[in-house]
Amino acid sequence: MKTIYITRRETFNAAHKLYQPNWTEEKNNLVFGKCANKNWHGHNFTLFVTVKGVPNKETGFVMNLKKLSEIINTQVIESLDHKNLNLDVSYLTGIMASTENLAIAIWDQLANEIAKNGGELAKIKLIETENNFVEYFGGKEPF
Ligand code: NI
Repeated sequence: MKTIYITRRETFNAAHKLYQPNWTEEKNNLVFGKCANKNWHGHNFTLFVTVKGVPNKETGFVMNLKKLSEIINTQVIESLDHKNLNLDVSYLTGIMASTENLAIAIWDQLANEIAKNGGELAKIKLIETENNFVEYFGGKEPF
């Protein structure tokens, strides 16, 4: 039984701001800088969804990547692409719209659907800018 990891890449763009309403504007600007801009700003996000498994004897696949792409699009891309993360996304209501929280929310939207299709979600990697990205392993860090 040789476990291998497969990854599907998808992209979306979305607007957000990082702003803690309980804080003064001064403190928000100090902590979040330009990300606190009250009239929003946007990112072109790149999402990598990694699934773990053993290749099927007949197909050689851990999971059909076309099916994985379909799940990612239905479960998350449709609700995030061209949206305002602070206002438009039901599963982000009341949550600070940071890349960290977004990656965790994406995991929660995907894990069950992937499991139903025979895969095991192993990692979400979400790239916000050329220099900033986050990785989430569902609370089971591999190191
Ligand atoms: Ni931002």
